[in-house]
Amino acid sequence: MAVNAESSLFLKQVQSHIHERLSDFLCEQGRSAPRLREAMAYSVLNGGKRIRPALLYATCRAGAGNMAMADAAAVAVELVHCYSLVHDDLPCMDDDDLRRGLPTCHKRYSEDLALLAGDTLQALAFSSLSMAPAPAPICLHMLRTLADAARDMAIGQTLDLAAEGSIIDLVQLENIHKLKTGALIRASLLLGALSAGWTDSSTLAALEHFGDRLGLAFQVDDDILDIIGNTDVLGKAVGADQRLGKATYPQLIGLEAALELSAQLHKEARAALAELPGDTRYLTELTDYLISRDR
Ligand code: IPE
Ligand code: IPE
Ligand code: MG
Ligand code: MG
Ligand code: MG
Repeated sequence: MAVNAESSLFLKQVQSHIHERLSDFLCEQGRSAPRLREAMAYSVLNGGKRIRPALLYATCRAGAGNMAMADAAAVAVELVHCYSLVHDDLPCMDDDDLRRGLPTCHKRYSEDLALLAGDTLQALAFSSLSMAPAPAPICLHMLRTLADAARDMAIGQTLDLAAEGSIIDLVQLENIHKLKTGALIRASLLLGALSAGWTDSSTLAALEHFGDRLGLAFQVDDDILDIIGNTDVLGKAVGADQRLGKATYPQLIGLEAALELSAQLHKEARAALAELPGDTRYLTELTDYLISRDR
């Protein structure tokens, strides 16, 4: 597995575009509580891969929409993701010191500010999404989609913590991974489709299936990279899962089998993608980038 993956041109474009949108959105939030604002900006404008906005924009493009139609939703999904990372790193959760190559929010600021920055980022996410330039019923559908995913992420995180140091089976592990990570990845695809007004149920079902495979693959890969990845590339400490006795695929089935599962899931994601209508070129590019990130 080479972690120095071939990058995707589309992903690079999204990274600079979403950075500007996130920065503008955070700047619009008034001038009170400067430390809180600083802690939020620190946790958002810090160079994440922006996979979720990229999947969202790519799906919007597949549905013949344009980037501007999807900006509010892309900001929203990345804000929920950033909040989840800030809380995930807290001492009461994974107790990590490094995120995106920098001290984690609670290390740089304080635990109380990190908690409140996460809370506020989640609120801002829904504020952004409520301003999506879409008809009201579609906007409501989008809000519900993100709310369900944020709820599922938190449920998954709860199960992840409860499983620390205990023995769970593969069905339970798959459930945790699909909830804590898969839910937001699936939602990114659905929000992209809804942003483009691409709302027919068969398309949304096909996207859900693709997202299910890709979302699981993403967390299996994250588990693998925690063992064989490189801190300088990942921007977070490796070996963290073993330190905490986390339930992960390599821990449960072994590294080799986890690598095989990852390859199988990526193959299934690629096959699911082929079932989608529309111009899926950017979704294909991103899927291939995520595969090459691993192999
Ligand atoms: C990390 O997500 C947390 C997981 C859900 C595995 P990413 O790997 O997308 O992290 P960033 O956004 O690039 O930092
Ligand atoms: C994170 O899973 C899932 C989230 C919802 C944030 P991990 O705990 O494995 O993510 P990293 O490895 O800290 O990025
Ligand atoms: Mg965690
Ligand atoms: Mg973690
Ligand atoms: Mg991890």
